[in-house]
Amino acid sequence: KKVVLAYSGGLDTSIILKWLKTEYGCEVVTFTADLGQGEELEPARKKALDMGIPAENIYIEDVREEFVRDFVFPMFRANAVYEGLYLLGTSIARPLISKRLVEIAAETGADAVAHGATGKGNDQVRFELAAYALNPDIKVIAPWREWDLSSRTKLLEFAEAHQIEVAKDKRGEAPFSVDANLLHTSSEGKVLEDPAEMAPDYVYQRTVAPEDAPETPEYVEVGFEAGDAVSINGEAMSPATILTKLNELGGKHGCGRLDLVEGRFVGMKSRGVYETPGGTLLLEAHRGIESITLDRGAAHLKDELMPRYAELIYNGFWFSPEREMLQAAIDKSQTHVTGSVTLKLYKGSAKTVARSSDYSLYSEAHVTFEDDAGAYDQKDAAGFIQLNALRLKLLAARDKRTK
Ligand code: ARG
Ligand code: SIN
Repeated sequence: KKVVLAYSGGLDTSIILKWLKTEYGCEVVTFTADLGQGEELEPARKKALDMGIPAENIYIEDVREEFVRDFVFPMFRANAVYEGLYLLGTSIARPLISKRLVEIAAETGADAVAHGATGKGNDQVRFELAAYALNPDIKVIAPWREWDLSSRTKLLEFAEAHQIEVAKDKRGEAPFSVDANLLHTSSEGKVLEDPAEMAPDYVYQRTVAPEDAPETPEYVEVGFEAGDAVSINGEAMSPATILTKLNELGGKHGCGRLDLVEGRFVGMKSRGVYETPGGTLLLEAHRGIESITLDRGAAHLKDELMPRYAELIYNGFWFSPEREMLQAAIDKSQTHVTGSVTLKLYKGSAKTVARSSDYSLYSEAHVTFEDDAGAYDQKDAAGFIQLNALRLKLLAARDKRTK
């Protein structure tokens, strides 16, 4: 038996590694992805080696460009937001991890993949739906659903018994359940489990508090081509470089903090604190460029489809025909979403203050309050209003008659 484990090098997956070897008795291949979580990956290699994984079974890969280009950017073309607030930072990374797990399983002759998500959350669903969609015969091992280490406390005891190092947070405690990548950092658990309690400031990891952000605003120009960001302040950059740069700017100005209660796919609600500095800037800028380049009909239809699309990603259906159908429609809408947007960053806010495009549909000639030189005949509006009012007049007349 051989299994490919999504291995972060952190506590949970180190315990899982140990457990898979000792209790499950299988050969373990580890896959550690650099998704831009801002952690060194070499310690993960060392830990895996220390736990007896041979070097050729340790896969460590930088997938940042693929993550942003093929997952984050397509999602941002849709302006996807779950339950009105969540920018899906964890949700969008899972399908990529699963894709590589399944590919590495094929390369190494493994028949199973394993992950460290609990049996209570969304991540198990996302990892596994993606894996089955890509290989219907793959087996999945989810230790959290099988072992009797049913709480974080028991987990810590197991770690101690097997000499697995427990990383401490800034306050010397075992950390929250944190998931980080180039798009976001999420924290759940511990003091956050009571939604009536305010999140302590030490939860935040990659943004300053808005009140501590610089006193002077900063302006940043984001260039777009066919719906994707391609440059910052006129300088062309790769997708992952752009997101990295936007993260720096957003983090410095306290943008993209979020404290919410969300509805998990499995039915329960959970409270989380998220930081999505670059993504928050990107969403605002993308909406800014769409505002002048998208036709109203296309834009409104897109906004109607968006919650559906966001829910598919949240629920783990990235590799599904319905997500791909929506993606095709969304991508089609982006043909002329090209141009540039200036954002103003100031104490936690990121707002579009200027936008321009060669494909702009904005017509000053039509909209001006000054003399429009015959571009638009105001008399046309009278018939337009009369016909639109016809139904409303008939209804009102009936109500008057039958009252
Ligand atoms: N609740 C968020 C989501 O479902 C974040 C999950 C964070 N995952 C984690 N392993 N801590 O997308
Ligand atoms: C987990 O359960 O592993 C994290 C939270 C989630 O997946 O929703």
